[in-house]
Amino acid sequence: MSYRVLYVDDDRANLIVFEAMFRSEVGVLTAASGAEALAVLAARDDIGVLLTDERMPGMTGTQLAEHVAAAHPDVIRMLVTAYSDLDTALDAINRGHVHQFLRKPWDATELRAHVRDALALYTTRRQLGELQRRLREVERVYGLGVVVASVVHELRNPMGVIAGYLDVARGAAEELAAAAGARGADHGGELGRAIDGAWQALVRMDEIARGVELSTRRRPVDDHADVGDVVALTLRLVSRELARRATVHVDVPPGHGARIGPTQLGQVTLNLVTNALQALPEARATGDNHLRITVARDGATLVLEIADNGPGVPDDHKARVFDPFFTTKAAGGTGLGLAISKQIVEDAGGRLRLRDTDGGGATFRIELPAVE
Ligand SMILES: Nc1ncnc2c1ncn2[C@@H]1O[C@H](COP(=O)(O)OP(=O)(O)OP(=O)(O)O)[C@@H](O)[C@H]1O
Ligand SMILES: [Mg+2]
Repeated sequence: MSYRVLYVDDDRANLIVFEAMFRSEVGVLTAASGAEALAVLAARDDIGVLLTDERMPGMTGTQLAEHVAAAHPDVIRMLVTAYSDLDTALDAINRGHVHQFLRKPWDATELRAHVRDALALYTTRRQLGELQRRLREVERVYGLGVVVASVVHELRNPMGVIAGYLDVARGAAEELAAAAGARGADHGGELGRAIDGAWQALVRMDEIARGVELSTRRRPVDDHADVGDVVALTLRLVSRELARRATVHVDVPPGHGARIGPTQLGQVTLNLVTNALQALPEARATGDNHLRITVARDGATLVLEIADNGPGVPDDHKARVFDPFFTTKAAGGTGLGLAISKQIVEDAGGRLRLRDTDGGGATFRIELPAVE
């Protein structure tokens, strides 16, 4: 997203000059009073820099800056004034937290440089904030999966105990049924049916547990991921979107391990699967949208591929998709998914690459050191 500068001045002639000066290089919005400026700021989310005249009727530039500092603290504030007395400057800095104090009449070259710098600073701050937010989000989503998996894992022991007691109870009930049957009564049969019911519920619990469990027992050290478990958990995290958007084909036989933390590999697969789902056209029938996940061994390397039959990545974007903040998604894309994923895979000594899917679409190939 490119951010705009909002220029505020009660002198309309200045607004026109300012707009003409910047129109070709940065997006400019103007307001003729502090109140109008606040209304513009409240209505939009693309303003990065506020440049305001000091002397205006109603609300001074410093007062406006003070309001903006409270309501939109990220917006960079600059004050322009012909009356550069010390008190105004101190007030502007202390109360309005202004970034810069510029003299009027302005020098066009100097003003341009200041506005450009301020916009660049704002963009960098926003990107940094976005990066931090995104990292927290991915960690939270996958972390939650891991927490659920370990809780369920802990439930396995008491479930085993219940199964043992049910077994004992079933034996006793059968004896009881035999004895009661000899006397012509059916109390033992009723008990047997109750035990069968409890057993069925336990089997159902086991199915649920299996659904969310990561095989922690098969993962003695933290940098060993069972690829099948990670893929299964990832698909569960996006199951709702998956059902709406695509048909999924998974060819990941058990027993494939990679030298990477399961949480890390999970972040990567979650990013790649999310991208694939977002790429698959919503207008196409679910049966025609395919997401394919495969794993293979190539010597000491484990190759995990996530392929879709969406539009694919155009040639002139191929070199850039792994760049931080490169995105083609108008709404909500931060352009960090692939950059973070590539970093994670490389930190584990692997590679993340993009190739075309045969017949159209994008295939992301994760190469990692395999576990023997
Ligand atoms: N499977 C895919 N098919 C087509 N294009 C893709 C695919 N995966 C990624 N891309 C392209 O690469 C760009 C960068 O992807 P990346 O995951 O880094 O960011 P994003 O998805 O745009 O945003 P975010 O991941 O932060 O939501 C995407 O905007 C898109 O243009
Ligand atoms: Mg993405």
